[in-house]
Amino acid sequence: MEVIVAEHAGFCFGVTKAVDTVYDQIRDKKTNIYTFGPIIHNETVVGDLEKKGVKVIENIEDLSGIKEGTVIIRSHGVTKQIHEMLTNSGLEVIDATCPFVKRIHRIVEEESGKGKGIIVVGSGNHPEVEGIVSYATGPVFVIDSPQMAEQMRADKETEYTVVSQTTFNKNKFQETIEILNNYGYNINIVNTICNATDERQSEAEEISSKVDAMIVIGGAHSSNSRKLYEICSRRCENTYFIQTLEDLHLNLDKSATLVGITAGASTPKNIIEEVQNYVRTNF
Ligand code: F3S
Repeated sequence: MEVIVAEHAGFCFGVTKAVDTVYDQIRDKKTNIYTFGPIIHNETVVGDLEKKGVKVIENIEDLSGIKEGTVIIRSHGVTKQIHEMLTNSGLEVIDATCPFVKRIHRIVEEESGKGKGIIVVGSGNHPEVEGIVSYATGPVFVIDSPQMAEQMRADKETEYTVVSQTTFNKNKFQETIEILNNYGYNINIVNTICNATDERQSEAEEISSKVDAMIVIGGAHSSNSRKLYEICSRRCENTYFIQTLEDLHLNLDKSATLVGITAGASTPKNIIEEVQNYVRTNF
């Protein structure tokens, strides 16, 4: 079987940096290493870190029982309040928030400080969006679709700065912006969709339109992986969403000659290689 693996599959720059940060702490023989939330949406990686003694703090309440150690903030960041609480906790804090997410925090804080309203295009319950929203000091709206943009009731006299969650789908972002424009909102758009996502999504779109089957590898809770699946299944009916090779039950027509593989930002390279080798040699 011929297999095409997307060049932009797997760990992006920000996730690589966050995961490496944790492994660096282990290598430096630090004790009491914590991550604030799982470092990435990948059970294999989180399980490996757990075996090496890294514990996950789920929320700020968990902090109260911890007297010493190092807390690592993951790539999609935390809210301003949590950041302050961590800094004041007396623990060592290593901030592995991706610089592209930090840039959105800065934009929101500055624009909001100038009295502008903020519109965040993204999923309201995603920790990255919760973090972004927390930097606003004035009115802030979160919308995750053109439909939500239609339902939004905001003051038309106010000037708004629009930003997006880094992993948001670029076409859906454009459609949402069009609606906001049509409704006559005074908006200034800063497209903060990360290039890694953009490249990964465009490549997935291109590959899935020419293959007989498409495999998307990603964590069940990873929103960027689910978006990749959405994009691919629109172009290729035979699209599979798997977490590891064990989940793959590939069903191919006799005439199939080409299989495509892509993976979300939190999928390690070795899992992608495993799936690729399996498909190449068994079909
Ligand atoms: Fe950063 Fe983009 Fe990855 S924002 S965490 S490099 S998807």
